[in-house]
Amino acid sequence: MKVVLIGSTGLLGSAIKDELNNRNVNSLFLTHEIFDVMNSGDYEQILDFKPDMVINTAAYLGVEPCEKNPLDAFRLNCKAVEDLANFCNEHDFGLAYISTDGVFDGQDGDYTEDSFPNPINMYGLTKFNGELMTRNLCRKYYIFRIPILFGRRKNQGSIFIEKMYDLYQNGKKELKIADDVINRPSYNKDVAKKIVDLITCKSEFGIYHIYNGGGKASLYDFAVEFFKQQGIKDITIGRVKAEDFAKNEVGKKPLNTTIKSNKIEPLRDWKNAMSEFCTKN
Ligand SMILES: NC(=O)c1ccc[n+]([C@@H]2O[C@H](COP(=O)([O-])OP(=O)(O)OC[C@H]3O[C@@H](n4cnc5c(N)ncnc54)[C@H](OP(=O)(O)O)[C@@H]3O)[C@@H](O)[C@H]2O)c1
Repeated sequence: MKVVLIGSTGLLGSAIKDELNNRNVNSLFLTHEIFDVMNSGDYEQILDFKPDMVINTAAYLGVEPCEKNPLDAFRLNCKAVEDLANFCNEHDFGLAYISTDGVFDGQDGDYTEDSFPNPINMYGLTKFNGELMTRNLCRKYYIFRIPILFGRRKNQGSIFIEKMYDLYQNGKKELKIADDVINRPSYNKDVAKKIVDLITCKSEFGIYHIYNGGGKASLYDFAVEFFKQQGIKDITIGRVKAEDFAKNEVGKKPLNTTIKSNKIEPLRDWKNAMSEFCTKN
């Protein structure tokens, strides 16, 4: 099997790269430096390699950035995905698109692959649009929906747990974190392994929800566990509600976007995965 990986330096992309290398999968790793998914002229590099599967991890991330720069979010999360899906379909390459639990409105939780998305912000809307482009334009496709991640990153970037850690390192010893934003924290390495499993085993095309097991966790639970496992004791974490932040934030944040799968089993307990992450970093 031959695989092209777009965004091979990202939080998830770098873990997928390691996994493909560990399994000696014949792969072409495309960094943003040498390949811009928004420039279809760059697709020649994919054509020359003639892959079975193209994995696209590139995205415009985050609720606030997408809300503030909707056109940029649209270009990367929708238009580029449309171009790539058409290109892959034309050349009979498979396309794996990484999506998010943020396509759901967060009213109920426990969303399966069959639940219908109802995004409530620009990030979710553009990612859902990317899903539609992928599945409507490409015959051979995977959509992997994943929840909030943790893990070692090799590029620049700042997602929830990294932001909390940065605040702490910059001297903030008291944090207030919402205990009503519920999710399934997941480890980039575990998610990457599952994605590579599904692709290399030639699993049936379609949508898959991939996440670590061990139960649901609020952002508060997530942060408390992270600092505990890092052995950090000089921090106080207080509980607040999402609405306490809402007035200072741009874009609506869904409350309970927990996913489950009616196709595959959950990955190992997220706290065990967190323990591996904290001891190896
Ligand atoms: N992180 C999460 O918690 C999370 C949760 C749910 C879903 N997801 C989804 O998972 C995927 C990966 O997220 P991530 O956290 O790994 O993101 P990330 O760390 O920002 O990685 C994105 C990768 O894409 C590259 N890239 C950005 N713009 C590009 C472009 N125009 N052309 C080519 N490459 C480009 C980036 O390179 P540079 O860094 O050099 O720009 C980076 O290598 C995304 O689709 C995201 O929506 C992530």
